[in-house]
Amino acid sequence: MTANAPKILLLGKDSQLGWELQRSLSTIGPLVACDRQTANFENADELRFQIRHHQPAVIVNSAAYTAVDKAETERAKAHQINEIAVRILAEEASHLGAWLVHYSTDYVFDGEKASPYSVDDQPCPLNVYGQSKAAGERTIRDVGCNHLIIRTSWLYSAHGSNFPRTILRRAIERDQIEVVADSFGAPTTAHLVADTTAAMLDRLNGLSRPEELSGIYHLTASGETSWYDFAQFLLGLAHNRGLPIQANPKRVFPITSASYAAAATRPKNSRLETSLLRDRFRVHLPDWQVHARRFIEEVARSRLL
Ligand SMILES: NC(=O)c1ccc[n+]([C@@H]2O[C@H](COP(=O)([O-])OP(=O)(O)OC[C@H]3O[C@@H](n4cnc5c(N)ncnc54)[C@H](OP(=O)(O)O)[C@@H]3O)[C@@H](O)[C@H]2O)c1
Repeated sequence: MTANAPKILLLGKDSQLGWELQRSLSTIGPLVACDRQTANFENADELRFQIRHHQPAVIVNSAAYTAVDKAETERAKAHQINEIAVRILAEEASHLGAWLVHYSTDYVFDGEKASPYSVDDQPCPLNVYGQSKAAGERTIRDVGCNHLIIRTSWLYSAHGSNFPRTILRRAIERDQIEVVADSFGAPTTAHLVADTTAAMLDRLNGLSRPEELSGIYHLTASGETSWYDFAQFLLGLAHNRGLPIQANPKRVFPITSASYAAAATRPKNSRLETSLLRDRFRVHLPDWQVHARRFIEEVARSRLL
């Protein structure tokens, strides 16, 4: 990166993450933000045109095919958006000498490891979505542009479709709910990922040889929990905050992932080891409970359910 305030092209501006990136990246440099209408990942010419037209120093891609279960029957579409279009981004970044920031997922792993996954562990996805995301990572590395591939997990925000919002809605509608108790990870807000991305770009900007930091990073909140414990924690906060839930934490019942019928198999261990990111970029990743509290407060104040 050369400019003091590098021009940034954000793709997928309306994703959970894109919404937060619009805020956080605006402090780094001039920002152009596109949605599906202006940069459709199923239209290669349009995608190339947008990048060549704007000539960014950084391309940030928060667009993705994220329908995990539907991907099982839409393999071609998932690979088009998560792999083939990503190759175009990498090729265009390479031609421009730009950086590509791209997001990936714990679903590139099978979840069989007993400890958190490091960036050096080999991907071994269980489902089509995970395969398409792993292929997207590979294609960026094959093209060889300067990149930050940021894997995160259990992403959520007060906007969009995600586990905490689903749990709160169900707890308002029903007097008891069942939640998977044998899958473990670190719930991570889009807010944290967006702010950390901005901090990473800021750090690259200050370096004489930023290309030395090109690579894959794991970015999640600190700590870990199960979906079941996470749901209980959220509903405890919601109850104390006076949200109109019927299912309080005592009315949450554990089930196994095997008994939760879904088209795609999901990894049971979603824990990602974040030390490389923390050491190289000198960022602090707060415990997951810190942002979960903010989430409930934001939902309560703005009545976002
Ligand atoms: N959600 C998670 O739990 C999670 C976990 C780990 C990693 N990630 C990764 O984090 C990133 C952001 O995820 P997210 O949950 O914020 O995403 P999201 O809210 O599901 O949004 C996906 C975005 O991609 C856009 N999109 C889909 N198809 C497109 C196309 N053909 N052309 C252009 N845009 C298209 C959608 O546009 P429309 O608004 O028009 O539909 C939407 O804005 C993704 O790379 C995802 O793989 C997510």
